[in-house]
Amino acid sequence: MILEKMSYDVLFQQSNLGIVVLNPNFTIVDANKTYLKAVKKSKAEAVGKPCHEIVWGYAVPCLLSQVGFECPLVQTLRTGESAHVIHEYHVSEDQARYFNIATYPIRDRNDKIVRVIELWRDITKEFSSRCEARVRRIETDMKKLIQEDRMISLGKLAASCVHEINNPIQGLLTFSHLIQMILEEGVPTKENMENLKKYVSLMSGELERCGNIVSGLLSFSRESPVEYTYMDINEVLNAVISLTHHKMELADIRPDKRLSPEPLMIMGDANQLQQCFLNLIFNAVEAMPMGGELSIISERDSVSENSRIEIWDTGCGIRDEDISHIFDPFFTTKEEGEGTGLGLSIVYGMVKNHKGDIKVKSRVGKGTSFTLTFPSL
Ligand SMILES: Nc1ncnc2c1ncn2[C@@H]1O[C@H](COP(=O)(O)OP(=O)(O)O)[C@@H](O)[C@H]1O
Ligand SMILES: [Mg+2]
Repeated sequence: MILEKMSYDVLFQQSNLGIVVLNPNFTIVDANKTYLKAVKKSKAEAVGKPCHEIVWGYAVPCLLSQVGFECPLVQTLRTGESAHVIHEYHVSEDQARYFNIATYPIRDRNDKIVRVIELWRDITKEFSSRCEARVRRIETDMKKLIQEDRMISLGKLAASCVHEINNPIQGLLTFSHLIQMILEEGVPTKENMENLKKYVSLMSGELERCGNIVSGLLSFSRESPVEYTYMDINEVLNAVISLTHHKMELADIRPDKRLSPEPLMIMGDANQLQQCFLNLIFNAVEAMPMGGELSIISERDSVSENSRIEIWDTGCGIRDEDISHIFDPFFTTKEEGEGTGLGLSIVYGMVKNHKGDIKVKSRVGKGTSFTLTFPSL
């Protein structure tokens, strides 16, 4: 018997599990070294005191609202069964340890619970490495979604750019016919020489236009690493407006561009911002199937010095019951195949990456405005 008791004592004291024996009134009867080390108390300080005081410093048993989970001891006393929770224990202000806590009831001959044994297993390492792996997975998924969203935007752009490229191509064809005709006449006259020069220069202009459209599309489709540089938001807005102006024209939308006369410098990633503004403009265009007006305004707030960009449309507006969901991933009111519900969640994430803010105001049947704010440097 003595030998058995000694074995239990060794197990109790040497276990790398924190072990605490409790009374049903929450007071600590006994605790091993591992438990006392975790709660940073000596045995004399802990024994006889209630566990809620030792662990959390509370005078009364912990409430779900205070600690974020139902106390396993309370659960065991209520159900008569063992219980378990994961407990985040703050060792210091910025350092937490995670414990898997399990409680087991000990009963007397009349089946009454007389003690509860609580086992604390430190799972900080395991938990942190799983969290890190999960975060890495979310980051890769996010990158994939962002790229997918870029490809969708690219598809939408390409459709309108095909029209835009077609115009200069028609011009090129006409000029090349004219040049051919002059050359077929033999040695050009002085006047024809002047015409040839004019046509070639007009052709270069048209070719440049095509080149700009294609390189705009190419640079947009490229998956580029995030790079924060000192940059002018107005430049990004101008690039996005020139990429989308034909799409607006086709949809009978009048753009009203009012950019601040001075550059709006922020620390930003031009690709991310371009994707944000494109998504907002596409949404506005899609909200005005019968045409309308799209205002793009940028300015520096005179008080806070923050950069403010407003994009507002005279489209269908957003219903009150939808407005709190529009930034949720996969929330869409569009028909299948027309909307993925990704755009605004990506915009939200990117604005937050820039330590910025996004606000929406909308009235059904009147229109919607999105206001983005970016901190001054
Ligand atoms: N400018 C806008 N006008 C009206 N509704 C809008 C506007 N922008 C966003 N929405 C609403 O928010 C939803 C989510 O937008 P988004 O995340 O871009 O996904 P998607 O455009 O693929 O539906 C849209 O389906 C639409 O209901
Ligand atoms: Mg969208």
